[in-house]
Amino acid sequence: MDAEGFYDERAPFYDGEYKTPFFDLYRAITWDNISRFLPSKGVILDAGGGTGEWALPLAEAGYDVVLIDISRGMLRQARRKLEERNIKNVTVERVDMTDMGCFQDNTFDMVLAQGDPLSYCGNAEHAAAEIYRVLKEGRHCVASVDCMYGFVLRLITLKQWDILQRLFETERAAFQTGFEIRYFTPQSLNHLFEGAGFEVVRILGKPVFLSLVPRERAHDLLRDKKVFDRVLELELQFCDDPNLVGFAGHLEIVGKKV
Ligand SMILES: C[S@@+](CC[C@H](N)C(=O)[O-])C[C@H]1O[C@@H](n2cnc3c(N)ncnc32)[C@H](O)[C@@H]1O
Repeated sequence: MDAEGFYDERAPFYDGEYKTPFFDLYRAITWDNISRFLPSKGVILDAGGGTGEWALPLAEAGYDVVLIDISRGMLRQARRKLEERNIKNVTVERVDMTDMGCFQDNTFDMVLAQGDPLSYCGNAEHAAAEIYRVLKEGRHCVASVDCMYGFVLRLITLKQWDILQRLFETERAAFQTGFEIRYFTPQSLNHLFEGAGFEVVRILGKPVFLSLVPRERAHDLLRDKKVFDRVLELELQFCDDPNLVGFAGHLEIVGKKV
């Protein structure tokens, strides 16, 4: 199976799977970071935008959004939600982010690639180069990817030594998804973006502390609103601390087109 087939199958359940306290925290960190780089107005490309997790609130905030994805199933869910909420300022198109020839150079005021499409698209270098091309000069891309060291911890607990060895050699693994995922270290993510021409503005971990807590325990802790708020405060304070970033489950990068 490839990423397209995987997300086609998952699409009807996708939103429900992420309705957890842990992912509420993840989204709060993400939203804080995106908000820092939003243009005052304009058109935002949501690449690998899936069911519209980010396109919908951005459209409701007044931005015009172009949501692209490889999975027809995910796009179907996005269209349904847009119709339900009567949102008109989102264009939904099936486009492969490694080849965005349908968009001209310097078109978008911001590009998002949230939820790790760069890890799943099969050629992160092509996708990063395409994002750079379609972004306007001086504007930002905010992208998240799967983090290698967070995955290493998981493979150790599952005693998956062969997969671990190949991961160290190639930064890639096909484990439990059936398609190959690219895992990044802070350094290799930085390299990807600089290689595409970006000035790297910020790299952060999502989340840096709570990724290290067993997931059920994290849910228990975060269900308490006071604990959630305190943890969020700490995560926002330390999310870009270079000593911590590499052990997060996900990395996020902000690149500026120069
Ligand atoms: C985990 S989902 C994230 C969806 C959404 N951005 C979010 O944050 O909820 C990853 C998405 O990347 C999409 N994707 C994978 N490869 C892609 C490609 N080559 N071009 C466009 N989208 C792709 C998948 O279909 C899926 O919808």
